[in-house]
Amino acid sequence: MVAKEIVPGVFWVGALDFDRRLFDELIPLPEGTSYNAYVIHGSEKSALIDTVDPAKEFELIENLVKFRIERIDYVIINHAEQDHAGSLPMILEFFPDAKVVTNEKCRDLLIALLHIPAHVFHIIKDGDTLSLGDRTLEFHLTPWTHWPETQVTFLKEDRILFPCDLFGYHTASSELYAVEDAVTLRSAKRYYAEIMMPFRNSIRGYIAMVRDLSPAMIAPSHGPVHKNPAFILDAYSDWSSDSVKNEVIIPYVSMHGSTQKMVDHLVSALMVRGIAVKPFNLSRTDIGELALALVDAATIVVATPTVLFGPHPQVVSATYLANALKPKTRFASVIGSYGWGGKSADTIVKMLDHVKVEVLEPVIVRGLPDEAAMQGLDRLADEILKKHKEISIV
Ligand code: FEO
Repeated sequence: MVAKEIVPGVFWVGALDFDRRLFDELIPLPEGTSYNAYVIHGSEKSALIDTVDPAKEFELIENLVKFRIERIDYVIINHAEQDHAGSLPMILEFFPDAKVVTNEKCRDLLIALLHIPAHVFHIIKDGDTLSLGDRTLEFHLTPWTHWPETQVTFLKEDRILFPCDLFGYHTASSELYAVEDAVTLRSAKRYYAEIMMPFRNSIRGYIAMVRDLSPAMIAPSHGPVHKNPAFILDAYSDWSSDSVKNEVIIPYVSMHGSTQKMVDHLVSALMVRGIAVKPFNLSRTDIGELALALVDAATIVVATPTVLFGPHPQVVSATYLANALKPKTRFASVIGSYGWGGKSADTIVKMLDHVKVEVLEPVIVRGLPDEAAMQGLDRLADEILKKHKEISIV
């Protein structure tokens, strides 16, 4: 891999992972990802910000060797997750005198997850600074910019913010700087949905804090560097706001066609009423796409057949995920079919306890949907339109 200079004395030394296709054994990575690490030279001390996934630790070492970095005084760990901290044991083998600079919570996790010895830590608190000589690092605790121990580091003189997961996105790009286009926005929005959306309320505060810092650049630990911070900050302000769009998301599975007929009818009924609609066949869709769609949608309608006595397991999994991601969705309903019984609608509604939704009357039918069932779906479409009008998004 090729290390790169951002400004004199500040280098990207991370690793690109073009082949990785799954993160946390859950999140699809259609574009791969990167693990960004940065070296900052001050007149007296040098610091490494974050490390890389252990699968790529030799690339990090190779980059340090290429830049003839013979001394690291401080390793700043902004986040304990292994894709950023996982190469810390190897870094400490190469630089045994380095101090690991992080907050108390992160220290405890690093000791638990990586067995880092307690004596190597230099503990910082919110607002603390660390001098490298002619350069100064300033630390801000930002809990739940993925995990509870997360922090960001601000290089004051160059006004570069290193926020680790926050403001990043999963892509393996040979470009150092983010291109400001729709493709980047889509990737960043998908990442926001998968990683940051559950912490939307906290994120809003961090956006304000970052705007006050007025960074010249934002250098996250996944994806390219943002040379124009307003591009990503404005996008985050929009995504994390309370405003929703006139959209309905329908995650569904159909085993023998009955639920599919209901979904097809509801999709048409919503379209003729001027409502944007996105059905997601869970047997085929990528859950990252579903998460992305949940960022803005005003309504989710879960559609399921009945397996034994409840919803299809793939629908259960998608509903669990949607609930865990805590989208700002305002309304929810359930549609589907059963053969001899079951309480699919009740089960799905109970699963949405983290999403503050108003539940609209479910449409559950026995077997193949008949004319009465289709009329029920038309009434559901009418109700969705009415609700969207009440919150002024139509
Ligand atoms: Fe990129 Fe939360 O790790």
